[in-house]
Amino acid sequence: MDYSGSILQTDVMTSLDVEKIRADFPILSQKVHGKDLAFLDNAASSQKPQQVLDATNNYYKTQHANIHRGVYHLSQVATFAYENSRKKIQKFINAASEKEIIFVRGTTEGINLVASSYGKDNVKAGDEIIITHMEHHSNIVPWQMLCKEKDAKLQVVPINDDGEMIFEELEKLISEKTKLIALAHISNSLGTINPVKDVIELAHQHNIPVLLDGAQAVPHEKVDVQELDCDFYTFSSHKVYGPTGIGVLYGKEELLEKMGPYQGGGDMIKSVTFEKTTYNDLPHKFEAGTPDIAGVVGLAVAIDYVESIGYDNIFQHEQELLKCGTEALSQIDGLKIIGTAKNKASVISFDMDGIHPHDIGQFLDNDGIAVRTGHHCTQPVMDRFNVPATTRASFSFYNTKEEIDRLVAGLIKVKEVFS
Ligand code: ALA
Repeated sequence: MDYSGSILQTDVMTSLDVEKIRADFPILSQKVHGKDLAFLDNAASSQKPQQVLDATNNYYKTQHANIHRGVYHLSQVATFAYENSRKKIQKFINAASEKEIIFVRGTTEGINLVASSYGKDNVKAGDEIIITHMEHHSNIVPWQMLCKEKDAKLQVVPINDDGEMIFEELEKLISEKTKLIALAHISNSLGTINPVKDVIELAHQHNIPVLLDGAQAVPHEKVDVQELDCDFYTFSSHKVYGPTGIGVLYGKEELLEKMGPYQGGGDMIKSVTFEKTTYNDLPHKFEAGTPDIAGVVGLAVAIDYVESIGYDNIFQHEQELLKCGTEALSQIDGLKIIGTAKNKASVISFDMDGIHPHDIGQFLDNDGIAVRTGHHCTQPVMDRFNVPATTRASFSFYNTKEEIDRLVAGLIKVKEVFS
């Protein structure tokens, strides 16, 4: 096969002006080892547009003071910026109330909050929590810790050879002992888009709440928590073009009302004496201490940015990249794609016969191509597919067909050097 020139036969035909979008992301124009950067590790973290950089910078330059604590002008400006961002995020995921939007450090903390606060009062010895085999460690370990503490049991829904959860196995696992089902909306290492609406419908027939790990979904598709009818939904800002260190936990108000606080400290209280503390109303009950105000402001601007491009355009462009990438990579001898679900986001994990992913990653890096190699915080997925690690390319709306061409050309060279 001749891999010279443009390798892909299919052109990416979408309505996005990708060059214009790329101009908004200063980091994308830099050289790495003298080559143009091809950033194909968006599932780990995405890059930030100038609009987000300007918003956080401007916040610190002109608006910063602590929130909810001052009658003076700047404190009120900062409080407005923070609470206004909460309203924007409420609308973004279509939550019924802003009381249902809790700011956390990221998806990991969102899941830990629910495991800790919901688990404390609702899980007892002999109960069960159900997850799937494709979960990120952050949607495994908090439940394991809870189960250990409570003498409860973690049940795992198996996945098939395409990396799809086996729905009938979930049906079999559900019982009166099940206290919660927690699963990824989209898998970070396989790209599988889970049938979350069906899972929620089934769970609710048994009065079981469902938590969705939305870290990999929010960057790619419109999420409507009321339409999904999920009980908890959590995502990270840094994967959706916002700052690091901030994320969102959505919870249905009636569930959050009944849950005890996660951490104690300032702002989460109504009154404190040495004898007794009363807690603040939602959402503040779950936000102890000074939060990442600038992060919240930046996240709201990142959401504006994503919405200005439009999820329909994003989905179409990324699906085209996925199709092109899948076709081209499949033609490389000895390359096996891990994760071939019918419904997939723009993530391609693969194994190359006899070549360690770290060698692949380093070789590609010399060409300026950034991919992730390793177990992607999903060691059980690696065990399921009998590989120690994979190489993963994950595409954003700012990626191009030319970058996929470069990835494929790089992999051909890897084969020549390492085989
Ligand atoms: N969860 C992130 C990833 O998939 C870090 O790479």
